[in-house]
Amino acid sequence: MIGKRNPSNRELRTRKDLLLVASRHAACAAFFMSAKDALAESVAKLVERGRYLVKIAGCNDCHTPGYARTGGKIPEKDWLVGDRLGWRGPWGTTYPVNLRLYIGNLSEDRWVEVAHTAQFRPPMPWFALRDMTKQDLRALYRFIRYLGPAGESVPAYLPPDQTPREPYILFPEVPQ
Ligand code: HEC
Repeated sequence: MIGKRNPSNRELRTRKDLLLVASRHAACAAFFMSAKDALAESVAKLVERGRYLVKIAGCNDCHTPGYARTGGKIPEKDWLVGDRLGWRGPWGTTYPVNLRLYIGNLSEDRWVEVAHTAQFRPPMPWFALRDMTKQDLRALYRFIRYLGPAGESVPAYLPPDQTPREPYILFPEVPQ
């Protein structure tokens, strides 16, 4: 038998080992792929829940120009960019912040902390954020991050003695 030789036992073992290693790699890859898919799926679920919460918790009513006026007929890509329409009352004049830019500057953990502890001026319903579960706040965060940064900053808060140059909604002084 010239030119053809039987593989030695040692060679055979090595080939078997190689096959074993290769199949382990395949198993690992499959495991990581499914872990990645599972993660992508849970992120997608959070985003979906965030979208739902933004709609039903009324964030768009004030933070999206024209949303309330049009009965919600503003495309999602234009949501939460803040509004230059001021809210004037005994607290001064406030502007619904551009949440797309605001949340882009915060980590997820910091957002949860701020939402659970901060008190903002009227008419921001800060108590709604305070009472949300961490999971819901994370969903809101993921959705707003998913929308990505857009729009511009809104005018800065004005104290009660200053008259805004831009249009505003006037709240009456509530009798005590
Ligand atoms: C009735 C109108 C209104 C609604 C509804 C509303 N906001 Fe606001 N929001 C405001 C105004 C006005 C401000 C600015 C308050 C201030 O200057 O202290 C504000 C401020 C904020 C801030 C503070 C940003 C900063 O400067 O630190 C966050 C965060 C926020 N809103 C998130 C939300 C979310 C999330 C929702 C939905 C759950 C929501 N808002 C619903 C009017 C509203």
